[in-house]
Amino acid sequence: MSSETTTQRVSGDGTSGAPTLTVTDNRTGKTYEIPITDGTVRAMDFRQIKVDENDFGLMTYDPAFTNTASCRSAITFIDGDAGILEYRGYPIEQLAEQSTYLEVAYLLIHGELPTQAQLDQWTHDITVHTFVHENIKSFMQGFRHDAHPMGMLCGSVGALSTFYPDANDIKDPENRAIQTIRLIAKMPTLAAFAYRHAMGQPYVYPDNDLSYPGNFLSMMYKMTELKYEPDPRLERALDILFILHADHEQNCSTNAVRAVGSSQVDPYSAVAAGVAALYGPLHGGANEAVLRMLQRIATKDNIPDFIEGVKAGKERLMGFGHRVYKNYDPRAKIIKKATEDVFEVTGVNPLLEIAVELEKIALEDDYFVSRRLYPNVDFYSGLIYEALGLPVTMFPVMFAIPRTSGWIAQWLEMVQDPEQKIARPRQIYTGERRRDYVPINQR
Ligand code: CMC
Repeated sequence: MSSETTTQRVSGDGTSGAPTLTVTDNRTGKTYEIPITDGTVRAMDFRQIKVDENDFGLMTYDPAFTNTASCRSAITFIDGDAGILEYRGYPIEQLAEQSTYLEVAYLLIHGELPTQAQLDQWTHDITVHTFVHENIKSFMQGFRHDAHPMGMLCGSVGALSTFYPDANDIKDPENRAIQTIRLIAKMPTLAAFAYRHAMGQPYVYPDNDLSYPGNFLSMMYKMTELKYEPDPRLERALDILFILHADHEQNCSTNAVRAVGSSQVDPYSAVAAGVAALYGPLHGGANEAVLRMLQRIATKDNIPDFIEGVKAGKERLMGFGHRVYKNYDPRAKIIKKATEDVFEVTGVNPLLEIAVELEKIALEDDYFVSRRLYPNVDFYSGLIYEALGLPVTMFPVMFAIPRTSGWIAQWLEMVQDPEQKIARPRQIYTGERRRDYVPINQR
């Protein structure tokens, strides 16, 4: 450090024992002391670091937010190295074993497990809001027969904002509460309508005598029977899948909901953005991609060739790898167990054998081991959905239904967080600078 070095306190008090980071700008020789809070430094603190007064100040560059926290959140905790997932501090394994999706949704939204009276009220409120406006049916009818149900879901949930124009009063807690209930209640109805439309079957209205997953199964599969009676094993398996998919902290779609919601738009529009993000094959579309991959592999004999292709970079082993989990995704373990329960009812899906063998080979192969690539939530979920008779296009929809409670919990947290503002990243401009317009006949 040169004798001319000066130390500037950016903010906070580095002498009080609070942890700080000392940074020396080698362009100027100046040293800065930057507070460290909760293991993070504030990107804005770096703005003070300038070569001269005209300098905009140092920015951080982090495409895809690989090392940037965008919020403070008390909803979901993940330790990707240890394979831990907790909602509001409760381990996912305990919730999957002992809770129900609606109770988990309450937990995510309200922060605590409900008392029996609170759960009864919550269940009642969700149940009586499952119907959608009749015009939604006509709206759905407008889609082509082969429309992807995820596109239909995205469009129809966004359209709900036009049915509830009061929803843009996002500063009113009571208003937020009613939209929260509506969204969680109506998502399965929209999803089932999208499915029935694709199948060319009449829409089935919600049955308020049934549980949340039971009603969904009824809206999907009811035909001529007067009352649909869901198989309790399928109902429970579906409820577990819903629990596992309810939230996953700042993933791509949640980030989309927060980013779009930060403009203070209504929650239906923000959730539509979440559905759009979830549609992509690297996110909620992965379970669809897994199933197509297993169908393409077709027999165990083809697995070695397929693995070689993956290692040569020709394609990815879908359902493997995760940005956060560098260990077995805890949800994948629970789903693997749930597949057995479902197959007891539906009969074994022959693709399971290929999946299990693929997993075994990949977990022993240095390519996957050295990159810490393990099965994620999507590796087995598609097999269950296929066993339920769902077309692959419905798989991401099955993810979107339960993720709605997580999106809304995150949206509620965001709109009440005084530190949050409209999301607006910076850029490093790499294009041309000022140049004069050239008339078209002179180019
Ligand atoms: N198959 C083969 N190689 C892979 C895979 C895979 N599934 N995933 C990552 N890699 C390799 C990748 O090629 C790279 O290798 P190298 O260092 O030699 O270039 C290395 O592992 C690191 O990969 P990355 O792309 O930098 O990792 P990421 O954190 O950006 O990507 C991921 C995470 C989930 C997008 C990725 O693992 C992937 O594409 N997986 C397949 C799709 C999938 O299953 N998605 C579902 C995610 S879980 C559900 C959800 O949250 O939506």
